[in-house]
Amino acid sequence: MTQKLIAASILAADFSRIGEAVELAERAGADLIHVDIMDGHFVPNLTLGPQLVASIRKRTRLPIDVHLMVENPRAFVPLFHEAGADWISLHVEATAHLHKDVTMIKDLGRKAGVVLNPATPIHTLRDILGEADFILLMSVNPGWGGQSFIPSCLDKIRGLKAWLRKEKLEVPIEVDGGIKLDNLEEIFKAGMDVVVAGSAIFEAPDPAEAIREMKRVAARVAAHKDG
Ligand code: DX5
Ligand code: ZN
Repeated sequence: MTQKLIAASILAADFSRIGEAVELAERAGADLIHVDIMDGHFVPNLTLGPQLVASIRKRTRLPIDVHLMVENPRAFVPLFHEAGADWISLHVEATAHLHKDVTMIKDLGRKAGVVLNPATPIHTLRDILGEADFILLMSVNPGWGGQSFIPSCLDKIRGLKAWLRKEKLEVPIEVDGGIKLDNLEEIFKAGMDVVVAGSAIFEAPDPAEAIREMKRVAARVAAHKDG
């Protein structure tokens, strides 16, 4: 997959104006709306639920990428499916029945993503790699936006990319946490296909311009790869 995508994470938006943030992201050229779901157990923070996803669904045609940072994610999958989520990802650390959960998401007609925390090794993906529609590598410890990218994640991205190539699998790698305009190109070059960006977009002086600049970087890296 040479096309590079931008997922705008609304975690960093003004929660009293989420609809406007979503519309701004779509107009500026974002490819996905990333929604972080936290339950106060799997991560020590609380955020949003299916009702908000259903509201966003009415405001955008972009695919909604729901990142479940919850215990027992299986229980929530049907709710987010009903709400209109298009991509649904869950953490390997949060479920004892990963294959069953991934199959459930795919059977509902949604794209199933498997997420790894920064210290969870990629070999844990071995028996699910051929089933997942995408892999999400966390490059911060989940729970909050605005943290710094953990440098060792670059090698992790390279390692996963090399492994996927070896297996001849076209599974996109999404990366989430601490990605800004100044490290974006390096992370794309390491093998990231989908960037999740929250504070780099919504805390920028001009969020639309931040998205447009990310698109320019994405296009440059993709063109370079094709050439
Ligand atoms: C963190 C979330 C991220 C968060 C990233 O737990 O999963 O999606 O929004 O925020 P930034 O881009 O600010 O690091
Ligand atoms: Zn996320």
